[in-house]
Amino acid sequence: MKILDRYGRRISYLRLSLTDRCNLRCHYCMPADGVEKLHHNEILSLEELHMVAEEAVLLGIDKIRLTGGEPLLRKGLIPFCERLASLRGLKELVLTTNGTLLPEMAAPLRKAGVKRLNISLDSLKAERFSAITRGGDLWRVLAGIKAAMAAGFPPPKINMVMMAGINDDEVLDFARLTVEHSFTVRFIEYMPTLKEVDWQKRCIPGTELLERIGRAYRLIPLVSTESAGPAKNFKIEGGAGSIGIITPISGHFCDSCNRIRVSSRGMAHGCLFSGGSIDLKPALRSGKDGYLRRSLLEIVSGKPMGHRLREEHDDRSPFAMSGIGG
Ligand code: GTP
Ligand code: 5AD
Ligand code: SF4
Repeated sequence: MKILDRYGRRISYLRLSLTDRCNLRCHYCMPADGVEKLHHNEILSLEELHMVAEEAVLLGIDKIRLTGGEPLLRKGLIPFCERLASLRGLKELVLTTNGTLLPEMAAPLRKAGVKRLNISLDSLKAERFSAITRGGDLWRVLAGIKAAMAAGFPPPKINMVMMAGINDDEVLDFARLTVEHSFTVRFIEYMPTLKEVDWQKRCIPGTELLERIGRAYRLIPLVSTESAGPAKNFKIEGGAGSIGIITPISGHFCDSCNRIRVSSRGMAHGCLFSGGSIDLKPALRSGKDGYLRRSLLEIVSGKPMGHRLREEHDDRSPFAMSGIGG
């Protein structure tokens, strides 16, 4: 089965956030004192998350990305992944993590059927990493990347959120990683979800980064594949890995957007930034036949064409990305 939204986009990808908690506090993602603790009842149980995934797959979703907060913090994650991975019709179960718990969990995740990992890493300098994440330990992430490779995962995608004056002087260091290593390093334009003071000063267009990298290395554009996701990909000539640029601000990828999101609170969203959301909890808890399916279809049919992040009159309320999983 295939589901199309009203603009003819095929919706095939569900981003399922397992928790809004995190063991880091990246400035752009989470408030300094974290997020409010929720009552047990306000969070979807693993059984309910499984019901969402199962229904989504029946509707034609063939890729599920587990996100957070930090998904590795969710208790019962490994058996949950095993169950999801065996859903008929699901081609890819993948996960985005900050990497800090991978030294212990990479091997069990791989065994449970997770196919690929995307790992967030915004600096290769230990002190700066700790400042950006408000206390994180760079060495745990680097050990996590090694553990992922040792566990037999394909080379991970490393996500670096680029912020002017904070970590943009490391662009070439990150690019250089792909000369020797087979990772994909993806530079992501910072999105002002928390609307921090002076957020405009932090934005750097992806094209400017490409120019900087292009002055140091010969960049070869790669043909876009479905697995490139929202990224435009390049390779440094002779390099083992590749470089991706994700430009949610300067260049919309909305017209080819194939995803919906469900948060650990059970809110389904058609878009990260615009349009409404639907609470799936009543559907999940009513026991009524077809209710969950109708709610998911409503999200797909209400999916907006795009967001208004670049517009002057963008009147969104600030929100923590940790609650929706990026
Ligand atoms: P792949 O499946 O490996 O391509 O991963 P992905 O890029 O879909 O997922 P990942 O969790 O690694 O997200 C990378 C970055 O892209 C994050 O900063 C996300 O917030 C951003 N991103 C992903 N999907 C969207 C989207 O639909 N809209 C916007 N604005 N940003 C997105
Ligand atoms: N802007 C850009 N990327 C963000 N992420 C989280 N918050 C933001 C933001 N405000 C990224 C994380 C992670 C991915 C899921 O989303 O770095 O790699
Ligand atoms: Fe945690 Fe990822 Fe948010 Fe950083 S970006 S606080 S690692 S969820």
